[in-house]
Amino acid sequence: MAFFSNGYSVLMLVSVMVSSFMVASAGNFYQDFDLTWGDHRAKIFKQGQLLSLSLDKISGSGFQSKREYLFGRIDMQLKLVAGNSAGTVTAYYLSSQGPTHDEIDFEFLGNLSGDPYILHTNVFAQGKGNKEQQFYLWFDPTRNFHTYSIIWNPQQIIFLVDNTPIRVFKNAESVGVPFPKSQPMRIYSSLWNADDWATRGGLVKTDWTKAPFTAYYRNFNATACAWSAGSSSCSPTSSSAFSDSAWQNHGLDANSRRRLRWVQKYFMIYNYCADLKRFPQGFPPECRRSRFL
Ligand SMILES: *[C@@H]1O[C@H](CO)[C@@H](O)[C@H](O)[C@H]1NC(C)=O
Ligand SMILES: *[C@@H]1O[C@H](CO)[C@@H](O)[C@H](O)[C@H]1NC(C)=O
Repeated sequence: MAFFSNGYSVLMLVSVMVSSFMVASAGNFYQDFDLTWGDHRAKIFKQGQLLSLSLDKISGSGFQSKREYLFGRIDMQLKLVAGNSAGTVTAYYLSSQGPTHDEIDFEFLGNLSGDPYILHTNVFAQGKGNKEQQFYLWFDPTRNFHTYSIIWNPQQIIFLVDNTPIRVFKNAESVGVPFPKSQPMRIYSSLWNADDWATRGGLVKTDWTKAPFTAYYRNFNATACAWSAGSSSCSPTSSSAFSDSAWQNHGLDANSRRRLRWVQKYFMIYNYCADLKRFPQGFPPECRRSRFL
């Protein structure tokens, strides 16, 4: 817990003890999430074990977590819109609120049948994003459920797909780059139509004869610090959340670094840190190679 600034560690130690009776359990959608828009297009079923979002010509849909989190490991399994999903976007992200909000994004851009989805990632701190990296996946994300995870601690943010790290965003405050570390965030997801830009810059339009488009969610886990606004402190989501080192800062082991390099070499299709046209005056400071790994 050494990474928590000053007063927090004491508060947290207390809350770890107080909540040590909490049960470590995988999430239940009724218990952990609210369906926030899209009426009947967002659904929870199988006693809270499965959630679906859908999109038709009239509206998309979305949900958000009841709790806010400040650091942790968040896992969710998603099965994306199958078939001709071009024009649809499934966003799955963490975000705080307000004009200087922080945000950690996964966005899945659909495609024509047989063409690859794009996984778009971004990090916002103090209201500023512009840190995009995009990837193809090494599997068809519409056939089965796959696990998408975010490990968030004060030193870095790691994006993982089926436990393979695809992106590491390191805290570069030492060179003046803001890092999300003081605003608690909720988990959000939504499915909407973005055929004005998502598929090849808006060239391919959503095929509404295939609507409704549906994405599925299951096996949510948060091994995290759940924020309590009332006491301005956070407490672990399970008794093991702080003894469990899943999300604390150990950096990546050799095997994970190897996997990360493999993804970046063969599946990364856009990296803002390599986009010379965009940064003719020089890349942002966090882009120095040594800050990636
Ligand atoms: C869709 O497939 C095409 C052709 O393979 C590819 O160029 C494009 O990056 C894919 N994704 C999107 C969102 O257009
Ligand atoms: C969440 O945790 C449960 C119990 O530890 C595990 O069975 C499940 O696979 C986890 N889900 C994800 C998406 O990692």
